[in-house]
Formats: sequence, C-alpha cells, structure tokens
Amino acid sequence: MEGMIDPANQFEVRQKPGNQEYWLEVGFGGGEHLAAQAEANPEVGIFGCEPFENGVASLLSHIENKGLRNVSIHDDDARDLIAVLPGASISKAFLLFPDPWPKSRHVKRRFVSLENLTSLARVLKDGAEFRVATDHVSYCRWALSQLLKHPDFDWHAECAADWKVRSPDWPATRYEQKAFDQGRKPVYFRFTRKMRGSI
Ligand SMILES: C[S@@+](CC[C@H](N)C(=O)[O-])C[C@H]1O[C@@H](n2cnc3c(N)ncnc32)[C@H](O)[C@@H]1O
Repeated sequence: MEGMIDPANQFEVRQKPGNQEYWLEVGFGGGEHLAAQAEANPEVGIFGCEPFENGVASLLSHIENKGLRNVSIHDDDARDLIAVLPGASISKAFLLFPDPWPKSRHVKRRFVSLENLTSLARVLKDGAEFRVATDHVSYCRWALSQLLKHPDFDWHAECAADWKVRSPDWPATRYEQKAFDQGRKPVYFRFTRKMRGSI
C-alpha cells in the first residue's frame, strides 16, 4: 500500500472501510454519464478523470445541481490516478468515446493499449466490468483486438444486441449524441476482468 491512496479518503463523506464499492470513469468529458451514475448509485464512490478544464467545470455544475457527495475528480491524466489506486479496488470502469487518434502515426496515443490495460487490470477487482463505447470503426476494431489478446480480460457477448444496444443502466454521453447526430452508430462493449489465477 506504500505510495498508494486510500480510496475511502477521497470523497467528501468518508466511506466505511472494507465494504465500500468504487467505480472509475476515464475521460468523462462533460460529466453527464458520471453524474447520472453517481445520482443513481449514491452508495458507490465514483472516481472521474478528465484533464479538459471545461469538462471539469461542467461536472462540477452537475455535482452542485444534483447535490452529489460521492464523486472524486482527478483533473488530469487517468493513468496517474490508476498508478496510485490500490490493487483490486475498483469494481467497475468506464471508457466512453475515447479520442480515436485515427492517423496511424498517432495510434500509440490511444487509451486502449496493452500497457494501459495491464495498469487498469491491476486495480480492477476479479469479475469487475469494464465498459468501452466508441463510434469510430477503426477504434472499435483496435479496442477489440487489444482486449481480446490481453490475458486479464474476457468478452462474453453472445449476440449483436449485446454490443449494439445501450442498456438502461448506461446513461448517454455528449459524444454519443454527437455521433448519432452525424449518422454514426456507436458500439457498447462490456468486458470482464478475469479472476486472478485463472487462465
Ligand atoms: C472524445 S471525448 C469523450 C468524452 C466523454 N466520455 C463523452 O462520451 O462525451 C474523450 C475525452 O477523454 C479525455 N482524455 C483523453 N485522454 C485521457 C486520459 N489519459 N485521461 C483522462 N482523460 C483523457 C479527453 O480530454 C476528452 O475529454
């Protein structure tokens, strides 16, 4: 635990140690999804990471309007927060409409990479869900290929509806609306962090 933060200390109301659940959203943009999740799940502490100043301001206004007390904002690169979270401390993570970096020379900037997935897998609990949405065809293929070859993640989709339809417990985001307005159809993937020690 040396050099790690205690998630229970990161929220306005100190959470009870031991039985608290924590979720993490990477790149929350305007914060609509994070705020809706925090409102619907007041017993869960939700970490949100976003370096874009206007996005942070937007989430702060959602927090104020909804009176949320279970959100902890990291106004910078998610990788820095992930590095100091204790192992197996997060039970759900969201990466919604990440920047696609479409040019091949920029692919290494994509958030989904084997290196970032390994860091994320360290902090996810066994069986934790990792939700990824994108409206970008090449990012979709890229994310699937990276996650399917990563030893710590499983994908259990059985039919197209499992990744073409957003479920009611998955609130919309601003980028998603933009994608629909421009005629693109997003995909909604749910991966699972494998049980430690399984193959
Ligand atoms: C295309 S926007 C999508 C925003 C939001 N998820 C949505 O669906 O409306 C991608 C966001 O990810 C943020 N981002 C990119 N790299 C990040 C990183 N390493 N850590 C945290 N946020 C990041 C960007 O600042 C940007 O706001």
